[in-house]
Amino acid sequence: MKTACIILAAGLGKRMGSPLPKVLHRMCGTTMLESVLSPVRKLRPDRTIIVAGRHIEAIKETLGNEGLSYVLQKEAKGTGHAVLCARRALGDFQGTAVVLNGDSPLVEHETIKKFLRLHRRDRNALSVISFIAKDPKDYGRIIRDGSGGISAIIEEKDADPLQKKICEVNSGVYALNGEALLLLDAIRMNRVKGEYYLTDIVTEAAKQGLKASAYCIGTEEEFMGVNTSEELARASLLMRRRISKKWSEKGVTFLDADSVFIHAGVSIGRDSVIYPNVHLEGHAKIGRGTTIFPNVRIVNSQIGSGVVIKDSSLIEDSKVKDMASVGPFAHLRPGSEVGAGARVGNFVELKKAVIGGESKASHLSYLGDTVIGRGVNIGAGTITCNYDGVKKHRTVLGDGVFVGSDTQFVAPVKVGRGAYIGAGSTITEDVPAGALALSRTRQKNIRGWADRRRKVTGSKRKKA
Ligand code: UD1
Ligand code: CA
Repeated sequence: MKTACIILAAGLGKRMGSPLPKVLHRMCGTTMLESVLSPVRKLRPDRTIIVAGRHIEAIKETLGNEGLSYVLQKEAKGTGHAVLCARRALGDFQGTAVVLNGDSPLVEHETIKKFLRLHRRDRNALSVISFIAKDPKDYGRIIRDGSGGISAIIEEKDADPLQKKICEVNSGVYALNGEALLLLDAIRMNRVKGEYYLTDIVTEAAKQGLKASAYCIGTEEEFMGVNTSEELARASLLMRRRISKKWSEKGVTFLDADSVFIHAGVSIGRDSVIYPNVHLEGHAKIGRGTTIFPNVRIVNSQIGSGVVIKDSSLIEDSKVKDMASVGPFAHLRPGSEVGAGARVGNFVELKKAVIGGESKASHLSYLGDTVIGRGVNIGAGTITCNYDGVKKHRTVLGDGVFVGSDTQFVAPVKVGRGAYIGAGSTITEDVPAGALALSRTRQKNIRGWADRRRKVTGSKRKKA
């Protein structure tokens, strides 16, 4: 039996109070629409159709074209009209159409699969997933017919006081066979809202004696619809909890999971420990037994095993190899690599800097466009002057180089293996392997100078 999925994403989303199309609002690093699409892709449907409105180009740009077709619903005339637009695109498709709302981002693959099995087992023309809502006012009420089927779905605005008391509501996930899809033609415009309601096909099915069922599977949290920014925040929290639970079950320890933000595309190895207020974004990959202390943000980076990322560090598009240590207060800008067992400490900024294994840059440095060998010691306050106002230049330090504190490397410059750089040097020329480079002037002490000056200015020596 063939399956086509139809995702409704053409609504105006007025209640969000934002110019961004509702379904493109983000949660845990992905748009709501991508969150709906992800379980749909796992179903491997024969067709996936996105119904979009005037924001269709922005939606196409976000989702791409792979395995998707788009249908324009020029005016948001309601969910019934949206599915009608998709039906035209289905042509002579024979099978089950699964309809999902683009604003229900927490629906899971397993639930849709189970629902489709029930729909097919019971040979329904039309099925819908229902759930029990604590506060049902944002959802259509399921009206049961007393013989196991359903006879209508009534929206809040059309419900009478008795119907308003019903807590079993419509999730917005439907399975429709060919006959049910034909019922769309019979839907009349709802007078209260001036829209064609998809929910009205249930009434039409009852009129024509077609079999319609509601399956109360899953939780309210899974089916919550996002209509306001407050609901978006709540859905984001629920998704965050779902993600951290998944990693907890795989052996990751969170000191305070609710304060941690992990994007859906992130992976974390077991025995890693995540402190509060950590953000792991994009495709960040964390190895095993790694500790990430508070206030760290890691974006699209690969962190090895046994690594320690200390407090308040930012790592973007970089690599940190096994057993290395970064931070506190370190900034790894894109293209950086910290070798195995290396240390990058307090207030150190790297940009396109590759640091060899076991090397150390422990304090207050800027290392940009730099290749540093193994076992190198970078003294406090070392700076690469990589930019001459027009171009960027490289600094290359061989294995085992010792750089004294407060050194400046005026790039391009190379330092051979095992060389020493005296503290406070400004290095403008290459240094041969094994040499000592000194560029500061020799110190001179002028005895009695300070006392002579005080006599001239008449000031007194301060008591120590
Ligand atoms: C809808 C259902 C309600 C259900 C709830 C579940 C109807 C009439 N009501 O209500 O029974 O409990 O979802 O969350 O169907 N859309 C279009 N084109 C349109 C209008 C809407 O594509 O012309 C899309 C929206 O982008 C959205 C989805 O359809 O993704 C649902 O629309 P929305 O207006 O949010 O419906 P609800 O009032 O939440
Ligand atoms: Ca909605």
